[in-house]
Amino acid sequence: TKHLLGIKNLDREDIELIFQTATNFKEVINRPIKKVPSLRDVTVANIFFENSTRTKLSFELAEKRLSADVVNFSASGSSVKKGETLLDTVNNILAMKVDMVVMRHSSPGAPHFLSKHIDANIINAGDGTHEHPTQALLDTFSIQERCGQVEGKKVVIVGDILHSRVALSNIFALQTLGAEVMVCGPATLLPKHIGELGVKVETNIRKALEWCDIANILRIQLERQQMRYFPSLREYAQYFGVNKQLLDSLNKEITIMHPGPINRGVEITSDVADSEHSIILQQVENGVAVRMAVLYLLAGVA
Ligand code: CP
Repeated sequence: TKHLLGIKNLDREDIELIFQTATNFKEVINRPIKKVPSLRDVTVANIFFENSTRTKLSFELAEKRLSADVVNFSASGSSVKKGETLLDTVNNILAMKVDMVVMRHSSPGAPHFLSKHIDANIINAGDGTHEHPTQALLDTFSIQERCGQVEGKKVVIVGDILHSRVALSNIFALQTLGAEVMVCGPATLLPKHIGELGVKVETNIRKALEWCDIANILRIQLERQQMRYFPSLREYAQYFGVNKQLLDSLNKEITIMHPGPINRGVEITSDVADSEHSIILQQVENGVAVRMAVLYLLAGVA
């Protein structure tokens, strides 16, 4: 059984096949009739143990555009609240003849654990602070679309790298596709050994922006902060926030990305998030086509 648990184990050919397939599906979903019958014999369960807007809706739309049967499960309001385990929950869902599971969970490794114990394709829709593979695929697909290619591009990932699954998956995908990667944030939000992944490390946002072609600006994840937050939101906005004044002072054009949800006025101001240099909503649009490609390729219906 094939799974998508992370980007780490994908090679360049894998990612390029996903991009080619996503390009075809993007053309399909821009037609008046957006559906294809590819997954009409496949049933997919979207099981979300953690909140989501984009990923959950994007997977559900991708599945419906492929004509799959879809069931949705949210831990809140379920028997998880009565103490049912992850494995029992998923085995009960699979007993209803489900073929593929899309899962978001707050524990790193939860989808890897499931993949060893159940007989279904599993797609990781974000596991704690570990990986968010489809986010990195849609991000790099969006860079390719905007800039022509990912190879050789200088990409800085800004913000809360320590708590970010988006950062880790993006680092793997960008490096596999030949981009140069930098991370930038306050030292308290950078993992100690991040340099060992082969990324540049910068704690000065101006220097990072002067270096890059593309800035992927992450949300400050207050819900993952164990300790009292440092720096404070006000300090973060002052020293690391990306605003129009800062970008205008650089005398160059930078493509702006953000995985969402945005804390407007903290990591990014509205005049940057909503500017012509921002591809934030194109990322969301591309998410559906990229997830269609992943579902289609994993289901093996080609
Ligand atoms: N980017 C992202 O994963 O957003 P959601 O948490 O809303 O799914």
